[in-house]
Amino acid sequence: MLRRSFLKFLAATPLGRLAAGLAATLASAAAIYLDLTQIDVKKTAQKRAAAAEIHLPYPRLRGPVSVEEALANRRSVREYREEPVTIEELAQLLWAAYGISETTYGLRTAPSAGAQYPLELYAVVGDLGVKTGEGYLPAGIYHYDVYAHSLQMRKAGDYREALYRAALEQIWVLKAPVSLVFTAVYSRTTRVYGERGRLRYVPMDLGHAGQNVYLQATALGLGTVAVGAFYDEEVSRILDLPPDETPLYIMPAGRPLASYRLTEKELIQYYQRRRA
Ligand SMILES: Cc1cc2nc3c(=O)[nH]c(=O)nc-3n(C[C@H](O)[C@H](O)[C@H](O)COP(=O)(O)O)c2cc1C
Repeated sequence: MLRRSFLKFLAATPLGRLAAGLAATLASAAAIYLDLTQIDVKKTAQKRAAAAEIHLPYPRLRGPVSVEEALANRRSVREYREEPVTIEELAQLLWAAYGISETTYGLRTAPSAGAQYPLELYAVVGDLGVKTGEGYLPAGIYHYDVYAHSLQMRKAGDYREALYRAALEQIWVLKAPVSLVFTAVYSRTTRVYGERGRLRYVPMDLGHAGQNVYLQATALGLGTVAVGAFYDEEVSRILDLPPDETPLYIMPAGRPLASYRLTEKELIQYYQRRRA
C-alpha cells in the first residue's frame, strides 16, 4: 500500500480516529504547556520575592548504585535511626522526585501527562532533621522550587507531630527526620484532559514521582514509605495549602534501622521453584 493511502486507511479506522484525537489533544497540550511554563516562571519569581530562598546543593547525576540494584533493594521502610539526613541527600531526593531533567522546556525526572506537572512538593523538616555544612536546617515546612532547585520556608517549627496525628498516628511520620509531601493542583491537568486527568493522569503522575523518591532513597542508603492514609483537611491545614492544592502522599525519609538486600541467587531460586 502506498504511504498516502495507508495513512488514509489508518485515519478511517477506530484506532486512527483515536490517534487523531490524541494528536489534537497533544497539540493543545503543548500550546497550553508553553503557556503554563511562562506562568510558572512568573509565579516562581513572585515567590522568590516573598520568601528567602535556600539554594540546595546541585543534584549529582552519577551514583554508585545501579538502577537494577535500586529496584531490587527498594522496600517500604518504616523504622529509622535517630540521625539526620544531610542537605545533599534531601536535595537529591527532591530533585529525583520532580526536578528538572531537560533545560529547554523544564521537563522533569518524572513523566507527566501532557507535561502539565500538576504536583507540588514540600519538605517537612524536624528539629535537627537535616544537617547542613554549618549546623542544621531550621525545623519547618519548606516548598520545593523545582526551577531554582531551592527551598522556601513556609512555616517555622517542627510540624512532625501534627503531621503524624493527621496521618492516623503512623509512627514513621513522627520519627523520620524529614517527610516529603506531594500535593496536586488538579486543574493543571483537568483543563487539558477533563475528568480523565483527575481520575487517571494525576494519580499516575504521582506514582511516577513517588517511585523516583523510593529509588533515589534506596540508592542513597536511605529509606522511605509512601503514606496515602491521612486526613486531607488536616494535612492541608498544617501545610497552609491554598484551596486548589490537595495533599496526596507523605513520604517520610531517614536512615533505615535495618537494610534490605535481595541477592541474584535468592531471586533465581525463587523463579526456579516456580518454573515447570
Ligand atoms: C497508594 C499507596 C498508599 C500507601 N499508603 C501507605 C500508608 O498509609 N502507610 C504505610 O505504612 N504504607 C503505605 N503504603 C506502602 C505499602 O504498604 C507498601 O508499598 C506495600 O506493603 C508493599 O511493600 P513494599 O513497598 O516494600 O514493596 C502505600 C503504598 C501505596 C502505593
